[in-house]
Amino acid sequence: MKVLVFQGSPRIGGNTDLLVDAFIDGLKETGNCKVEKINLYRQNIKPCIECGECEKDGQCVLKDDMKEIYPKLIDADVVVIASPIFFYNITSLTQALIERSQALWVRKYMLKISESANKPKYGIFMAVGATKGKRLFEGVIRVVKYFFDAIDADYVGGLFYRNVEKKGDIKNHAEALKEAFDLGVAISKNASPNTWPLNRSDSP
Ligand SMILES: Cc1cc2nc3c(=O)[nH]c(=O)nc-3n(C[C@H](O)[C@H](O)[C@H](O)COP(=O)(O)O)c2cc1C
Repeated sequence: MKVLVFQGSPRIGGNTDLLVDAFIDGLKETGNCKVEKINLYRQNIKPCIECGECEKDGQCVLKDDMKEIYPKLIDADVVVIASPIFFYNITSLTQALIERSQALWVRKYMLKISESANKPKYGIFMAVGATKGKRLFEGVIRVVKYFFDAIDADYVGGLFYRNVEKKGDIKNHAEALKEAFDLGVAISKNASPNTWPLNRSDSP
C-alpha cells in the first residue's frame, strides 16, 4: 500500500504537521505501507497559468517540482491532503497542487487515458482551523473532492478539528492525534476503506 501525504501548512511542527505525523506513525505500525510525506511549502509548485498546453497530451509544461509529483499521484493507493484553514480556504500551496492536477483531469476526461488501470485509489482530507464555525470545512471539502476526482481517487472522508490555533494546540485536543494514529493503523492493516475511522460528513 503506497500512501502519499501532502502536508499543506507553512508552519513546520504546527498543528497540521503534528496531525500528519501521528497518522504516519500509525501507518508504520504493521510495516505494510510505503509512506511518503511531502511538505508543500518546501516545494516549488507554481499555480496553473491556464495555457491549455496540457490539453494536447496531458502533460503540464511548467518546469517545477510537480514533474516528480505527477507520477507519485498516479502511483499512490492512498492520497492524503492536509491543510489548515486560511480565510475559509486551503492554503495557497495546497491550492497550487490542486490546480496543477488539471493535467490529470485532462488525461481522464478529455484524453480518456486511464492511469490507474482499474486499481482503486482513495483520497483522505485532514483540516484544522482556529474558529468554531459550524460550516468551517464545507467549502474546502468540496474543493478537495474535485481534486480527488481529477486524480481518479475516491474521497472516503477526513479528520477535521476546530478551535486549534497556536502552534501545537492540536496536542491539547483530546482525541485528535489518537484519531489520526488510529486511522493510520487501520489503513496499515489493510482494513476495508469503508471501515476506516473517518468523518464522512460533508459538514463535519
Ligand atoms: C492567514 C491565516 C488565515 C486564517 N484563516 C482562518 C479562517 O478563516 N478560519 C479559521 O478557523 N482559522 C483560520 N486561521 C487559523 C489557522 O487555521 C489555525 O491557526 C491552524 O491551527 C493553523 O494550523 P498549522 O499550525 O498547521 O499551520 C488562519 C490562519 C492564518 C495564518
